[in-house]
Amino acid sequence: MNGIFPKKGLSMEEILRRLRDYAVDDLDPYSGRLFTIAFEPGIEQLRTVAFEAFKMFAFKNMLDFTEFPSMIRMEKDIIDYAASLVNGDEQVVGTFTFGGTESVFLAVKSARDSFLLKRGLITIPEIVMPVTGHPCYDKAAEYMGLRVKRVRINEETFTADPKAISEAVTDDTAMIVGSAPNWPFGTIDPIKDLAEIAVDKGIWLHVDACVGGFVLPYMKRLGEKIPDFNFEIEGVSSISMDPHKYAYTPIGASVVLFRKKFHKMFSQFSNLKWPGYPIVNPAVLSSRSEALLAAAWATMHFLGEDGYLDLARKIVSAKNKIVKGFREAGYSVMGEPSVIAAFTSKTNIFKVSDEMTKKGWFLLPQKGIVNMNIPPSLHLTINPIHEELADLMIADLKECTETLKELPESEVENMLEIFSVALSMLSPGEMDIATLSKLFVEAEKILEAQGEKILQALGLEKGFPKEMGSIFQLLASIPPEMAELLANYVVIEMFRRGV
Ligand SMILES: Cc1ncc(COP(=O)(O)O)c(C=O)c1O
Repeated sequence: MNGIFPKKGLSMEEILRRLRDYAVDDLDPYSGRLFTIAFEPGIEQLRTVAFEAFKMFAFKNMLDFTEFPSMIRMEKDIIDYAASLVNGDEQVVGTFTFGGTESVFLAVKSARDSFLLKRGLITIPEIVMPVTGHPCYDKAAEYMGLRVKRVRINEETFTADPKAISEAVTDDTAMIVGSAPNWPFGTIDPIKDLAEIAVDKGIWLHVDACVGGFVLPYMKRLGEKIPDFNFEIEGVSSISMDPHKYAYTPIGASVVLFRKKFHKMFSQFSNLKWPGYPIVNPAVLSSRSEALLAAAWATMHFLGEDGYLDLARKIVSAKNKIVKGFREAGYSVMGEPSVIAAFTSKTNIFKVSDEMTKKGWFLLPQKGIVNMNIPPSLHLTINPIHEELADLMIADLKECTETLKELPESEVENMLEIFSVALSMLSPGEMDIATLSKLFVEAEKILEAQGEKILQALGLEKGFPKEMGSIFQLLASIPPEMAELLANYVVIEMFRRGV
């Protein structure tokens, strides 16, 4: 029986049978039908190589690299390769982490500590970034006591507006962030312009190349128009780039690079105050399996430069087919896509994604930001495997779009519209702490009493449905702080109950 811990251990066959059972509702990340989160090159042998490497190192602990020097050797190779892609010189150093968020945490910590050493503990340091910056900066800020200022973008290009960024910078700014590319639209921020501001004001500039670091340099070689985002630009202090995205490694691999050796000092943690062994942690976690590092090393070395160039060529070809197809179906492309493309139209985007889900395609609906003139959109993370599947997907998209034109608006949509107008007048973001804390007390009472009904109303009482359009739409139509509260509640309940 699921969920009951066995008194006697299970056989291997039984274990695998149960795990397969657990996975019946999972999407297939290798299928090429996902246009979000999965990064699939479509090379089966690559997986075998990664799994073999994983097995070799699964129980070796990166915590003590004196016991397992293989870790330092593999990490150095990966860091050197990453640095070479972004024109790092001899001074550039880096750390292998388990994800983009962890890399960003290390960069934020270094920027914060550099700032505090200059300014002292007299203020809350700020991160200034375009509104398209990934939420992992807000997360780092929450954990480490900074504040994030999200700044409007250029409405034509969907990239950072250097003037707006410059206006948002104050004496309290510890870090500016630009993305290459950002996640929502795949557009690349003008890093050179942001670097000028950073140099002028003496502020740390972090380039978030988590998505693009391992692929954009290859696309540039193929003749794509890719603005520079590397260490040749004076003022770039650190760069994050994720092998588990466009270097196609198993999930749990990222890199953060620092321009100067000493900057890495602020990102590391050491402790010799306790009676135990000396601790020096280059990353956030202490104990880490060496398996993910080995799997990343193996994947990268299996593909080599030629392999990556070939995969970049497939992405460019898939992107061209997808952009052309969406345009023909009546959508407009938002800015200049890279490996990610986003499209908008007057059609209800949330319904389009649901219709596409019924046909087995997973496109990501995005809510936009009304008061920044950013409309709702569909996001597609484009993978090499999509080269073969793009035509099929576009044919289905055209069909879904036509079907939707004929459907009347549902009652739920009308209700959501009324709901959103009412709720948008109420923004916890603008409340003082006393009012906010009252709101939380009330929210806890309401959720205790009405939580089950709320889950039922959202169709979530038995787990996440395949079609999430109306839930996305609801979250888009209420103030973000309320949506965050509701989303947190739903996730706590799902993990508590199981699905
Ligand atoms: C631009 C950007 N930065 C950072 C991250 C965080 O990466 P991770 O999910 O690996 O923590 C993401 C994730 O999609 C991203 O798109």
